[in-house]
Amino acid sequence: MTFRVLALESSCDEFAGAVIEDGIEVLASVVASQAGIHARYGGVVPEVAGREHLRNLAPVMRATLESAGLGWDDLDAIAVTQGPGLGGSLLVGVNAAKTAAWARGLPLIPVHHIAGHLYANWLRPARDDWDDSPPPFPLVALVVSGGHTELFWMEDHERVERIGQTRDDAAGEAFDKVGRLLGLPFPGGPEIERAANQATAEQIAALDPLPRAWLPGSYDFSFSGLKTAVLNRVRKTEAAGRPVDVPAMAARFQESVTHVLSEKAARAAEELGAACVIVAGGVAANGALREALKSRCAEIGLPVRVPPPRLCTDNAAMIGAAACYRRSEAPLDLDVFSTSGPEVFSPGS
Ligand code: KG4
Ligand code: ZN
Repeated sequence: MTFRVLALESSCDEFAGAVIEDGIEVLASVVASQAGIHARYGGVVPEVAGREHLRNLAPVMRATLESAGLGWDDLDAIAVTQGPGLGGSLLVGVNAAKTAAWARGLPLIPVHHIAGHLYANWLRPARDDWDDSPPPFPLVALVVSGGHTELFWMEDHERVERIGQTRDDAAGEAFDKVGRLLGLPFPGGPEIERAANQATAEQIAALDPLPRAWLPGSYDFSFSGLKTAVLNRVRKTEAAGRPVDVPAMAARFQESVTHVLSEKAARAAEELGAACVIVAGGVAANGALREALKSRCAEIGLPVRVPPPRLCTDNAAMIGAAACYRRSEAPLDLDVFSTSGPEVFSPGS
């Protein structure tokens, strides 16, 4: 029997809808991004994000069902991101999901945003080079987004343990802050990747490598020292009256971040005996990180799964996928959680 879920995601500055079948097939995925609006302010303005969600929710829900070619009667459940994220943004999506669930008599499935990111790896996107089998357990999962940098050990869908996390900035946050330091538009992640791709080998060689925080003996991460190192380099260069080589600095920064992320994820997988490594979150869209992980894991014969870039950044397809594998029905008085949520991912609690 098929299980079709309409999923909504509104934790930050994207209002997204999707219809997912059996946790695998993407029947529709629509994302209304506000990136252009927040770029003006150099970061996401929470109240503006919530208000934009209010404007976008009905058109996105309509477009999602239209794109799937389905009506309300074809759905089995409504899934929604419960947290973590911006409180006002989350409230819009959760309220819309509750209304739909109540009006149609459908179960409401709350999803932890980070679990959602991970479950993008279980979707079958329309790509020729996609390996159709689900990621094999046990696995190590690396989540790298704007608010989170975490390593998980997954024995199966139920047994999930966090084995490492950032002690300060998230990887995406570091990209965004360094992007701002280098005078690049918001969000800094894709801009840094673009700039780094323009640097020649000679330009990069002319700059000393930036530091890496290895934090020996743990699977934790730290990126604030790296951010400060970039700031100090920029200040020193400017004080000497020289222009900052933005593409080369972007490349050196990206190299440091991707080196630590790929090395730590591969080391954890090797030490714990994982059958594969999966990667998720906005920073997983980064080509250099994807390459670094693939080549580091190839050395130890481990397969790496990374969703296509459009499923790495915030979307509702991943929320629909997670809802199919972790079906915890919630009552209609469900609340959101913004920063600190339930441990690992147990939404609805
Ligand atoms: O997962 P996501 O879309 O939203 C959160 O849940 O936070 O992640 C957004 C983060 C931002 O910090 C953005 O700069 C970063 O992902 N990002 C990237 C790239 N695309 C998005 N970072 C590096 N390279 C990219 N290509
Ligand atoms: Zn996200």
